[in-house]
Amino acid sequence: MNEETIIEGRKAVRDLLNAPSEDCIVSGESATSLLFYLSYALSREVGQDENVVVTEYDHYANISPWPELQRRGLVREVRFARFNPEDGQLDVGDLASLIDNRTRLVAVTGVSNGIGSKTPVPEVFQFAKDAGAYAFLDAVHMDRTFRLMLTSYVAIFWCFLHTSCSVVAGVSCMDEKIF
Ligand SMILES: Cc1ncc(COP(=O)(O)O)c(C=O)c1O
Repeated sequence: MNEETIIEGRKAVRDLLNAPSEDCIVSGESATSLLFYLSYALSREVGQDENVVVTEYDHYANISPWPELQRRGLVREVRFARFNPEDGQLDVGDLASLIDNRTRLVAVTGVSNGIGSKTPVPEVFQFAKDAGAYAFLDAVHMDRTFRLMLTSYVAIFWCFLHTSCSVVAGVSCMDEKIF
């Protein structure tokens, strides 16, 4: 693939996601690998007394990178928001209670691949924004018509997997200052 094709691809994804610039678009082998890249990038700036909040129903792609940062002493804690086993819904109150002024990142899946639950993304991202934290959305399992106004958040990282036409690629949109 030549550079021109890659840049054209970035522009197309910029338009699809309503991203501020094609420089925010990063492609990679998979969602899992992009999440590890993201965690390496964030490891340069997270504080040892800070925390990351995820949900109990996230895919391992979005869980694995964060305990790794904790193991290396780069963040203090990874917090897991509960879901209700009766109906599979996220306990939004529990998630809100886990976010504080030491939360650097709130990373959630939009739809759980395991149980199909839908995360109330705008509400969760508002919590992140109010705390001054980054927000990450794992959109791998989401309806492709879903859109977010990317510019209305402090910084957002988005990851999705395009599987139609048998193409499998991870694409991530993130604040260009992070990389
Ligand atoms: C919700 C969700 N997130 C992440 C992934 C991981 O994607 P990848 O295989 O591109 O690492 C999957 C894969 O099924 C998924 O369903």
